[in-house]
Parts: sequence; structure tokens; C-alpha cells
Amino acid sequence: MTNKYKYFVANWKMFGDLKSLNTLNRVLKLKKSIKFDKAKIIYCPPYTLLESFNKKLKSTKIDIGAQNCHPLDEYGPFTGSINSKMVKKLGCKYIILGHSENRFEGETNNLINKKIKVSLNNKLKVLFCIGESLKQKKENITKKVLSKQILEGLKNIKNLNNIILAYEPVWSIGTGIIPKKSDLEENIFFIRKFLKKKLRIKNPVILYGGSVNSKNINELRTINQINGFLIGGASQNSNKFIDIIKKTFI
Ligand code: PGA
Repeated sequence: MTNKYKYFVANWKMFGDLKSLNTLNRVLKLKKSIKFDKAKIIYCPPYTLLESFNKKLKSTKIDIGAQNCHPLDEYGPFTGSINSKMVKKLGCKYIILGHSENRFEGETNNLINKKIKVSLNNKLKVLFCIGESLKQKKENITKKVLSKQILEGLKNIKNLNNIILAYEPVWSIGTGIIPKKSDLEENIFFIRKFLKKKLRIKNPVILYGGSVNSKNINELRTINQINGFLIGGASQNSNKFIDIIKKTFI
């Protein structure tokens, strides 16, 4: 994975229908400008829109990703599930795994580890989410929590080149609250050092996610250690999403 880019990952969660495809036109236009050559834009719509997004974005510089997958590689009797091979076939290059909204539903580090392995085998790049809850932050165990999530999530994975870390404090997702700049710098620095020392990743790519918007981007962009953003709510509106990208490159 290279960190010569700034990543802008649009996590649409359980939002969007075919009409939402129109929002892509303006973003496509922006991406054509040389000024945004270093912006790596990745759309992660719900499964139902992957095929349409792929058709629209196939021969462009914008990539698509899935938001989750089943941990098995084969087809099987798992009602409502989709595996990473299937999303790969739909044109996905990326996959979000370990998102706190799924951890909240019972996803463990061990299960995330299985999903990561199978996704890497299917040649997907993994956007691996980690982050502490408000309770854990208050208990001052953030670093312990992050280390455990990283070690267990990436256990027994030899080639870590296709892993992108996304630091998303749970209390910051969808709340409009972002961490204090000094706390964010400290945690990103900690994650970077941990990935380098413990897992021997040479140039870790680390994103920040949680209430990124077109206002707080002015502050977030000043943190050099952040290689990009995982954006939920603000990514569904092309004006807001474009604003975030433009302001990052001021
Ligand atoms: P948010 O979501 O930007 O709406 O806070 C981010 C995420 O959950 O990835």
C-alpha cells in the first residue's frame, strides 16, 4: 500500500438507491482535474448498489469497495450473507472490515481476522477499522484496546501490504464530535509506531474516521500523520464530499 495518496473513503452504510448514482457525476468531474491527482477516492455503497457503481466507475480513477463480508470463501447456506469472492467479482478493490457498527452486533476480533484473511486471499485491499469506546477512553485504556484489536485482527497474516488502518473512535462516529487534535495526533502516532515495530509494516497507511465534515476538515488536514479519511454521513452528499476533498488540498 502506498501513502503517496490522500484517501477519501465514502462509507455509505445502509443508505442509497439508484437515484444516488447521480451524486457521482460531480465527483467524477473533480477527479479529472490534475489538482486532485493524489486524491484516492473509494466509494463503499451498500451491496445492492455495487454493480451499478461498478458500471459507472469502471474505467475511471475512482474505485469501489464493500462494507463487510462473510468469513467463508466458498458458496454456502448462509441466508443474507455475501462473501468476499462475490464482491470481488462485482468489481470491488477494497473492503471495510471491523467497523464498530458490526463489532457492536457481536463481531469479534477473531471473526474479523477470518474475514481479513479471506478478503486478502481474494485480492481485496482491506480497510481495517479500530477504535475505542467512550467508556474505554474514560478508563484510559485506549492504547491497550487499539493494540489488542490490531494484534488479534491481523493475527497470522504474513503479507500486510494490502492493509489500510482506519482509526475510528466509536464515540466520534455519527456524533459530530471529533477528538482533540493533540489526542488524535498521539493515537495516530501510537498506531503508526505499533504497526512499524510490532508488525514490521514499513509505511503504514492510516486513515481517520468519525464525523469528518467540511468544517472540521480544516483542522484534520493539518495532521500530517493522517493519510486520509473514512467518511460516513458527509460522503453521501456530493457537495459536502467534494468540499472535504478540496479543502484537504488547499
Ligand atoms: P461518520 O461515519 O462520518 O458518519 O461519523 C464514519 C464511519 O462510520 O465510517
